[in-house]
Formats: sequence, structure tokens, C-alpha cells
Amino acid sequence: MKSAPAYLLRCKPLPVVRIGMIGLGQRGVKTLERYADIPGTEIRALADLSEKAVENANQQLALSGRNVARTYAGPDAWREICQQEDLDLIYICTDWQWHADMAVEAMNNGKHVAVEVPLATTVEDCWRVVETAERTQRHCFMTENCCYDWFHLATLSLAETGALGVITHCEGAYIHDWRDLFHETQKEGLGFYEQSCHQGGNPYPTHAIGPIAQVLGFHRHDRMKTLVSMTGNAAGKESLLGHGNSTLITTENGVTILLQFDGTTPRPYSRLQTTCGTEGFVQKYPLAVVQTSEGLREGEHAELFMKRHLSTLGGKLWKEGHTLGVVNEMNYAMDRRLIYCLQKGLPMDIDVYDAAEWSCLSELTRRSAEAGGQPVEIPDFTISR
Ligand SMILES: NC(=O)c1ccc[n+]([C@@H]2O[C@H](COP(=O)([O-])OP(=O)(O)OC[C@H]3O[C@@H](n4cnc5c(N)ncnc54)[C@H](O)[C@@H]3O)[C@@H](O)[C@H]2O)c1
Repeated sequence: MKSAPAYLLRCKPLPVVRIGMIGLGQRGVKTLERYADIPGTEIRALADLSEKAVENANQQLALSGRNVARTYAGPDAWREICQQEDLDLIYICTDWQWHADMAVEAMNNGKHVAVEVPLATTVEDCWRVVETAERTQRHCFMTENCCYDWFHLATLSLAETGALGVITHCEGAYIHDWRDLFHETQKEGLGFYEQSCHQGGNPYPTHAIGPIAQVLGFHRHDRMKTLVSMTGNAAGKESLLGHGNSTLITTENGVTILLQFDGTTPRPYSRLQTTCGTEGFVQKYPLAVVQTSEGLREGEHAELFMKRHLSTLGGKLWKEGHTLGVVNEMNYAMDRRLIYCLQKGLPMDIDVYDAAEWSCLSELTRRSAEAGGQPVEIPDFTISR
């Protein structure tokens, strides 16, 4: 019997989700702190290259009144933790180059995976993770928190009501001046942010494409077909500065998408989210703008209008987080949804195909940009290669 496609994958419900975390740097520790607010979870094991990092993380658990976890440190710690019998979910918060290997190892050991963005940096690694998820019938959820941004959740609800008509064009961006962070995560040679600036395409595409993919229903109602991409070098090819990337994508249904990335100019922070339809238009960043049959709303008026449309399950959790006064409602909604789906045995909001489709843009934008903006085909990860 053929198994269900991984985007419909339902697994045995897990009343309590027992978690092992790999990578306890800046993001890993923040994740650990967030999980103090997520019922139905136990952090049982922690792994990092550094002994100090796991000890520090255990202190955070104790400070929040939770049981301390077993700790694993050193270069083999990540493999060891994947083999632990008493874990259901391996949560990966390491540097990008490890994500795919760790996700594959965890699923091969029967664990579900939550992995920080991006899932992988190459098309080949995206395929490896998809094929492992299909073979092992395990979930691989990419923690793309921008998919739980309140404006996006409201856009999903509004699109569902038909208020936007047929969606014809979307725009997304991740524009974040990373220059202050240069050398902060440096270990050997160039640090994480500097490497990204030299990547040649869009090294960090998932914040921008994730929300768009959900509005358009990729691998359900539509899919990305082709992209063309260009990266600037006006400040000098060898300079760390100014390698902003712009990418145009077309979908099977004929929707056009513009994605932008810029980490090294003083452009103000933006996670632009634009959805343009035959009947309506919504946009966030810099200000919220909404145009429907009821007229044009901008700024606070647009925000109030959109907040009345937080009716998806994710939207309700965002509001719950707001009422509880959590530090970041979008992370709270993401964590709660991930754990809720595991507890109920439901398919994931972000499945392994999403993770692969969004992450593969990193290599594909680079290939197109290096070829002077030549069109590049985007693989369909739902069809075996
Ligand atoms: N979704 C978001 O908004 C968001 C924000 C920040 C970071 N992130 C993602 O989180 C991830 C981690 O980022 P960070 O800022 O915490 O980086 P970091 O450098 O602060 O931490 C990475 C940690 O992983 C550990 N590590 C690296 N290789 C390892 C290995 N082989 N085995 C075990 N441990 C290993 C390091 O020792 C370090 O403690 C990245 O993928 C990044 O893209 C996402």
C-alpha cells in the first residue's frame, strides 16, 4: 500500500512530547525559554559542541522550575541524542550546514524533527531530507516563525473568504541590517553573517517565501515553477557590503512573486508581505495597507481591520499568546501549533515539502544570479526524482 504524501502525514498522537534539543546558542536558549509556556512538553536531553552551552541551558531549565535534562557535549553529541529511546522530537537550532544531516539522522532513528530555518542550503540536501521523511514517515517541521506573524495569519483568513479575489502577485522580503552582527558568531574564518553576504544569491529566503507559499497553497493548489535572480555588487565584488538580491518567481497558475534580501545596507528592517488580488490588496511593512471592496485603510485602521480577521487556528493562538503577555506571540503560536499537531496526530502546518521548496531557493537564486539572471527551474519535491 502506498503511504500518504508527507503533507497529509498523520502519526500516532503523543500526549506528552519529549524533546531533545541540538544547538544551544542564541536561538536554542531562546527556544528553551519559550517552551516554559508550552504545555504538554518535556525537554529531556540537550546537545551541543560545547559543554558550557549545555550546562547554561540546563540552568535555564532549572531557573524556570523545570526538570534539568540529560546533557551531551562534543562532536558526536548530536548523533547520540538522536539515538535516545525516550525522545519523540529532535529540535535543531545549530548553524545551517548541519541541519540536513541532523534531520536525516533523527528521522532514521524514528524521531520527528523541528528544524530552524533554513532546512538546508543545497537542493541535494533538500531531496535527502524529503526522501528520508517519506521513507520513515516522520514529520520534519521547519520552524519558520514568520508564518505565524499576525498580519500573515489575517491575510490567510481574508484570502479564504474570497475578499482578495484571485491572487495575481505577491511580494516578500527579509531586509535586516546585519552589519552590527558581523564577527559576533565568528568561530573560524568568516562568521555566519559574513558568509551569508558572500553567498551570491538569497541566502535566507524562507522568511519571505513562507507566508506567500501558504497564501498560494504550494503543492496543494499551485507550485513555484521558474525563477530569475540578480545580486548587486556596486560596492565591489570582494566587499562584504551591498550584495542585495532580488528574485522573480513564476508559479504554475501564473502568479508572479518578488522576493528581496538585503543584510548589509542601512535600509530599514522589513519583512514585506504583499498580497495582490483581483478584488483586494494587503501589505505590511513599512505600514499596513488594506484595500478591499469596503475601501482603503492605512496604518492603525488597516491593523485594526486585519486583527478582526485572526480566525485561523494559528490566529487564535496568536491572540492567546497576546492575552497571556508572552514575549513574542508569533513564536508562541508556532510552538503551540507544532505541539498541538503532534499531540493530536495531525499533519503539520509546515511539512517537509514546504521546508524543501522554500529552502532550495538559496542554491537556485545563487545559480541564476551567477549565470547573469538566467531562468532556473524549481524542482517539485512531491514527485520522486
Ligand atoms: N527563525 C528565526 O527568527 C531565527 C532567528 C535567529 C536564528 N535562527 C536560526 O537558528 C539557528 C541557530 O542560530 P543561532 O543564532 O542560535 O547561532 P549560534 O551560533 O548562536 O548557535 C549555534 C549553536 O549550535 C552549536 N552547534 C554547531 N554545530 C554543532 C554540532 N555539529 N553539534 C552540536 N552543536 C552544534 C554551536 O556550538 C552553538 O551553540 C540558525 O539556523 C539560524 O538561522 C532563526
